[in-house]
Amino acid sequence: MAIVMIARALAVAGIACAALPAAAQQPRRDLISECIACHGADGIAKDKDVPHLAGQNYAYLVKQMQDFQKGRRPHKEMRVMSRAMTDSDIVDIADYYASLPR
Ligand code: HEC
Repeated sequence: MAIVMIARALAVAGIACAALPAAAQQPRRDLISECIACHGADGIAKDKDVPHLAGQNYAYLVKQMQDFQKGRRPHKEMRVMSRAMTDSDIVDIADYYASLPR
């Protein structure tokens, strides 16, 4: 079931499964299904106004997501996105994006 959802998310993002790095197949990948549209499945954003997350420092990513969640860093979309994240989601998401090649 999760595989089907991931495949759909990838199809929507227009990215072929074969082009993904091995790390992208890890279990918590469902967490980033909503991030893909802006930040890309590979952490490389298509829009110039969206920051790349691939290969970003792990501790930095954790802090940014906590800051959006607590309102210390303002940004409408990211504040909405961060509201649904648990502490362990934040750790897993940061781990995932930090593991990707820049
Ligand atoms: C609607 C588009 C959109 C979606 C969806 C989105 N983001 Fe973002 N994200 C942005 C933008 C734009 C910024 C830059 C915010 C700013 O200018 O301060 C950002 C910033 C970030 C940052 C900080 C990056 C940095 O270099 O400081 C992180 C981490 C992040 N997003 C994670 C996520 C995660 C995880 C998800 C999915 C749960 C997600 N985003 C979904 C648009 C989006």
